[in-house]
Amino acid sequence: MSRRRRHVIDLDEMTAAEIEEILELTESMKEVLAREIKQVPTLRGRTVVNMFFEDSTRTRISFELAAKALSANVVSFSARGSSVEKGESLIDTVRTLQALGAEMVVIRHSQAGAPYLVAQHFAGAVINAGDGRHAHPTQALLDLFTIRERLDRIRGLKVVIVGDILHSRVARSDLWGLTRLGAHVTLCAPPTLLGPAHFWTATWPQISISHRLDEALEGADVVMVLRLQKERMQAGLLPSLREYSRAYALTPERLERLGAETLIMHPGPMNEGVEIWPEAATAPNSVIEAQVTNGVAVRMALLYWLAG
Ligand code: CP
Repeated sequence: MSRRRRHVIDLDEMTAAEIEEILELTESMKEVLAREIKQVPTLRGRTVVNMFFEDSTRTRISFELAAKALSANVVSFSARGSSVEKGESLIDTVRTLQALGAEMVVIRHSQAGAPYLVAQHFAGAVINAGDGRHAHPTQALLDLFTIRERLDRIRGLKVVIVGDILHSRVARSDLWGLTRLGAHVTLCAPPTLLGPAHFWTATWPQISISHRLDEALEGADVVMVLRLQKERMQAGLLPSLREYSRAYALTPERLERLGAETLIMHPGPMNEGVEIWPEAATAPNSVIEAQVTNGVAVRMALLYWLAG
């Protein structure tokens, strides 16, 4: 077993062996969740605070369920209704939570880098639950786990990530995880939703870039569709939603052309009828619900791994 880290801010800092170790632990956590009593005493007496400064359904609830399944004391903090609304800073908020007994902090924030700042002022463990466009490491871990669970491997698979890559923290964290475990990744997006291509190829030299989805989908083992992030988008990046959908959505026609074994993934929440059609989201080869379910076991594994 590798030496444990104190924080998990992104997968760029993790080795392939560490990622594999968390995926193995996730298998054990799935076994716990399959029992009649889905709880173990591993984190009894430890306090986990979920700090969400940005909206979330899957990540927030799965972290809460994960901490409870490990018998931790779980406290949910929302910026709305807290002293943040009176002007209290992020640093003072974290120091306050620490003084109240927090030992692990899970943070989602609209500002990239917020988890790094928290980690500098907090004595316990910090887990990034999504920061701006920067990173969403637990989403990437659950994506890796779901792919490996269904296809038995990651190495050598062709994974197409399509959609609003420019604004996607999921794409960035998935890129670290997938390339570290040996997948071949193709990014597919209109140029305005990709940003400078050299940024991607300089950071991950082994990936491919395409602006044509039908070509990119040829031979794909996994298609990961990303949400169009209208809340982070400047005006004018797209001619129209209809044109975007025609060129880049996973439509029933494209679904027909995919192999029956090709996994369809989406981190959620979905804009159905924009980047993915309901027929594709609910197809037999869609693992979108499995991704959500696996999120609890992955986050249990990570809490356990960090608690050491
Ligand atoms: N995938 C994801 O982060 O979803 P939530 O925003 O609902 O947590």
